[in-house]
Amino acid sequence: MASNDLSHIATRCIHGGQHPEPVTGAVMPPIFTSSTFVQQSPGVHSGYEYSRSHNATRFAFERCLASLEHSGLTEEQERTCGGFGFASGLAAIATSLDLLDSGDTVLVMDDVYGGTNRLLNRVRVRSAGLKVVAVNMSDNAALTAAAANHAPKMIWMETPSNPTLKLVDLSHVAATGRACGAITVCDNTFATPILQRPLEHGIDIVMHSTTKYVGGHSDTVGGALVTGRADLAERLRFLQNAVGAVMGPFDAYLALRGLKTLALRMERHCQSAAQLASWLEKQPKVERVIYPGFASHPGHALAQRQMRLDGQPAGGGMITFFLKGGIAESRRFLESVHLFALAESLGGVESLIEHPAIMTHASVPEAQRAELGISDSLIRVSVGIEHVADLQSDLERGLAAV
Ligand SMILES: Cc1ncc(COP(=O)(O)O)c(C=O)c1O
Repeated sequence: MASNDLSHIATRCIHGGQHPEPVTGAVMPPIFTSSTFVQQSPGVHSGYEYSRSHNATRFAFERCLASLEHSGLTEEQERTCGGFGFASGLAAIATSLDLLDSGDTVLVMDDVYGGTNRLLNRVRVRSAGLKVVAVNMSDNAALTAAAANHAPKMIWMETPSNPTLKLVDLSHVAATGRACGAITVCDNTFATPILQRPLEHGIDIVMHSTTKYVGGHSDTVGGALVTGRADLAERLRFLQNAVGAVMGPFDAYLALRGLKTLALRMERHCQSAAQLASWLEKQPKVERVIYPGFASHPGHALAQRQMRLDGQPAGGGMITFFLKGGIAESRRFLESVHLFALAESLGGVESLIEHPAIMTHASVPEAQRAELGISDSLIRVSVGIEHVADLQSDLERGLAAV
């Protein structure tokens, strides 16, 4: 397919890195379940040897995501154009950390998914001797100073962050990493490549929990890394195979299927979230709403530049808000909503709601949670693609119970 046929991201969702299956012409790749592939003579094979290393279903997903994230690598340069699929988001994160040597320093955004924090501080500090330094990366000067003081080998961040939706200036992170020789990694799970493409800002590696928006239907667990640097792609290909936490073919099929509708879904997630965030802000029982699409958000100007859908600013599908009151009020509210399922995770077609302090971020030490404002009255919402009026009525029912 000519590259100018793929100039719009909605088209790349369907066709990016895809070819009809060569034997049957199937337009969707079959789920290749075989763990091994026959060889004509020892070491002579058709490019597929063993499924941990080579799986055509996984390759199709990896190429499509690489196309969406604009890796810029071709199949001639790198077999999956710089995309790599893993068994979970955390498996992807863990493999990216294996780029480091023992004893290296990682600067990590102070507000990240609880599991990222746990992997770094409770596993890799012990098992790899990593030095982990938390930095408020929504403050450019704080990041510059930390990079100068700690000589990091990796800078790890999320934007918008989970759960307080802080924004980080991707170009500044990329420039800081280049200046100090650190690999920069952005967890792009919340924004998705539809809204934000970190590689275009100079970031080295993009990470996704494909369990979320990429899969989109809360029926698969997976993760991915994408890089536009051929040297890093070579090292990640080695590590993906050597560590072995690969995405299985069934999950690769579901993740690829999810990508097909990602652009459409993100449009609806963003539209409904913006509407509900504005409505929530007017409710007397709500203390404060955090949404990157609001002018009141401290990172609003940055959000307008960095997060765009079809050329227009877009705030994403996640809302965080503080109820008035404490844990009792939060419990009453969360027990009273029906359409919003009280569950961890996000990014599915169905709306989800959760209490970060007790659920997704329970593994973050209490003192750090308090510092970040992850209090008992903080609620995180993943707005699904149901009709927005029904979602609003559901939140209304929850607020009436508070
Ligand atoms: C932003 C973010 N990154 C990474 C992860 C980890 O992904 P997984 O649960 O697929 O291992 C999550 C999971 O909630 C997440 O929200």
